[in-house]
Amino acid sequence: MKKFLIIGGGAMGSAFTIPCLENKNDVVITEPYSKKFIKELSSKRKYHSALKMNLPKKLKFRKYSGDLLKEKFDLIVIALSLPGIDFIGKELKKNKINTPLLVLTKGLKYISRSKKIFTISEKLQKVYGIKNISVLKGPCLAKELARKHQTSVIISNKNINFAKKIGKRISTKYYLNEFSKDIIGVEVCSAIKNIYAMIIGAGQSLNTSSSLFQRSINEMKYLTKYFKGKEISTLGLAGVGDLYVSSAGGRNSKMGSYLGKGYTFKNAKKRFMPNDTVEGEQLVREIAPYVMRKINKKKIPLMISLFKAILNNRKLIVT
Ligand SMILES: NC(=O)c1ccc[n+]([C@@H]2O[C@H](COP(=O)([O-])OP(=O)(O)OC[C@H]3O[C@@H](n4cnc5c(N)ncnc54)[C@H](O)[C@@H]3O)[C@@H](O)[C@H]2O)c1
Repeated sequence: MKKFLIIGGGAMGSAFTIPCLENKNDVVITEPYSKKFIKELSSKRKYHSALKMNLPKKLKFRKYSGDLLKEKFDLIVIALSLPGIDFIGKELKKNKINTPLLVLTKGLKYISRSKKIFTISEKLQKVYGIKNISVLKGPCLAKELARKHQTSVIISNKNINFAKKIGKRISTKYYLNEFSKDIIGVEVCSAIKNIYAMIIGAGQSLNTSSSLFQRSINEMKYLTKYFKGKEISTLGLAGVGDLYVSSAGGRNSKMGSYLGKGYTFKNAKKRFMPNDTVEGEQLVREIAPYVMRKINKKKIPLMISLFKAILNNRKLIVT
């Protein structure tokens, strides 16, 4: 039995505990941020409002603290959304934690000091000095995983044997794992697919969306290589796999459908999705200033069209 600490009691962190528990690991979940999730996870029933189900009784909830991080765990899993990455990076550094990390969070970070875009693992390494980071990405709707629908994800670490060790501890009949050494490529794909899901969602017919899908893959290949990942990762679970699920459903493609109908981003958000986080929009704001300055715009026309629509709050014109 291994001891896991899951940081982040949102939909994904909570769903992830299910295959971990099924593998007879000792699983502790903690929530540093949301009062709602703290209340739900610490209750006797453990009813999770985002997953709309009770979590297993064996799951242990602990109040978040630096001392909790210092306890002996075999793996710390980060399941916070992107804004939580700096918080947890600081905490891990302050408490001198060197437990191996597995990051589920998707996104990219702009570091103003070095004026560059970094993946989450690069940021945790470079800014917070954290070593032995693995990432787990791919097409996974938390609600479906929690209900044990067959799900395939990819675990990546430069040391692929370590990724495989994690796989052994978490895979089940319904939670299948692939492995990769290309941590950068896997992270870049899993982040930018949110932007392309919005673009594909903007297509007002299946024919148009299919054409946008194919052009999105080409741009994803280019960007993955630009950030020094391997092009082949674009065709794997973190790339095409995750792009499919995100464009077939989900908040990014929903927002894209409003943009495609001619609404501006602000209008659509206010009118149709006032309480939803649209991860693709957050990523646009994080990376657009860098991408617009540094990357050949002719290679990524779809992404540039979306940047212009969101940043200038004007109609999306796909060229
Ligand atoms: N790797 C995968 O298989 C996979 C699958 C689905 C989602 N995800 C990713 O997991 C992450 C979480 O997704 P989710 O569906 O659980 O979202 P959620 O909204 O249900 O939960 C978000 C979590 O982040 C925390 N959080 C939010 N803002 C924070 C802040 N400023 N500081 C600290 N913590 C903060 C919340 O309290 C909560 O624990 C996202 O990045 C998402 O893209 C990964």
